[in-house]
Amino acid sequence: MDGNSSKETNMAFSYSPIISELEEENRLLKETVNQLKNEIDRFRTPPLMVCEVRDIVDQNAVIKVPNGNQFFVCVSDSCTDVVAGDSVLVEQKNLNIIRKFSRSRSFNVEQFVILEKPTITFSQIGGLGKQIQEIKEVVELPLKKPLLFKKVGIQPPKGLLLYGPPGTGKTLLAKAVANSSDSTFIEVVGSELVQKFIGEGAKLVKEIFELAREKGPSIVFIDELDALAAKRIEVGTSGEREVQRTFMQLLAEIDGFAPLGNVKIIGCTNRRDILDPAILRPGRLDRLISVDLPNRDGLREIFKIHTKDMSLEKMNTEKLIEQMTDFSGAEVRATCTEAGYFAIREDRTRVKESDFLKAIVKVKEDEANETDDFSHMFG
Ligand SMILES: Nc1ncnc2c1ncn2[C@@H]1O[C@H](COP(=O)(O)OP(=O)(O)OP(=O)(O)O)[C@@H](O)[C@H]1O
Ligand SMILES: [Mg+2]
Repeated sequence: MDGNSSKETNMAFSYSPIISELEEENRLLKETVNQLKNEIDRFRTPPLMVCEVRDIVDQNAVIKVPNGNQFFVCVSDSCTDVVAGDSVLVEQKNLNIIRKFSRSRSFNVEQFVILEKPTITFSQIGGLGKQIQEIKEVVELPLKKPLLFKKVGIQPPKGLLLYGPPGTGKTLLAKAVANSSDSTFIEVVGSELVQKFIGEGAKLVKEIFELAREKGPSIVFIDELDALAAKRIEVGTSGEREVQRTFMQLLAEIDGFAPLGNVKIIGCTNRRDILDPAILRPGRLDRLISVDLPNRDGLREIFKIHTKDMSLEKMNTEKLIEQMTDFSGAEVRATCTEAGYFAIREDRTRVKESDFLKAIVKVKEDEANETDDFSHMFG
């Protein structure tokens, strides 16, 4: 008997640590299940919308939702410190303000623009001597020698507009002058400004110019300016109102800084004909520089630039240039690259005249196909 009972006690002793281990494990698993349940609940709650407070009226507020519409809404008791101008989180259904949303900056503007110190030089641009001269006078000289302008007593333009067909060197010019004037190059694309940042375009414009002043001397380069600054016949939809607001902010920024400050603006467009004249008024982008397709001399210069590092057999360059009439700089470059490929396909490292002739045909064909595609798109 005695022997038996001592055996039972022994067994109970050896089981109890296992039981308590299992109990502990059970407890942990329950905790994990609870955590996961909470997480699922959290994921199921509808997202809150980020809005801007326009005005506070007693316990209520006027907010602007991202599409530009304004609403009169309640402010929850837990956020009494909301003031006009704050960003807040609101419920999607009833638009009640739930929480103040503090962001050090509304967003990091540097994420949305291209910021660089370009390395391209004027010597890498062919056939645009007159344009280079003008851009140097309007952008480089005032940035480098503001005192000269003060002494003479004139105010240089705040910015300029480069216009002309695609691939003619407009972006190159802007980058080269940023380099020659040792400026930060801040690149924004007009169409992105109005499409990607719905509701934020005007704010972004403001921050871009803040950044430009911070990083000065700097050049704000606005590509596809027409997407932002096109003449509008009517401003009906909320999207159009949004573009309009962004454009107004741009005008306000341009008007707001001094001609001799260290920020210059370069706008760029293929469609000068549809620009709102407001952007070209005196004191704004009032210097217009046309960048057209290169003439024969221009083609020769551009061809030379892009073949500089190629190993070429003796060839009749003039004949090639003749064949490239009406090519843009970008097409001349494409021709050089294609010619190189024709050589590579035949296991040669030296490029021949016939490679260029084939390349010219190919570039022309590609161009024709593209035009075809477009005419399809537009019926
Ligand atoms: N005048 C030029 N001299 C040398 N290269 C050129 C010239 N024009 C164009 N290119 C070549 O074509 C490329 C595209 O040129 P760029 O980006 O400056 O054209 P763009 O006028 O800004 O065109 P888009 O209107 O389409 O923006 C350049 O990177 C360069 O290699
Ligand atoms: Mg360009």
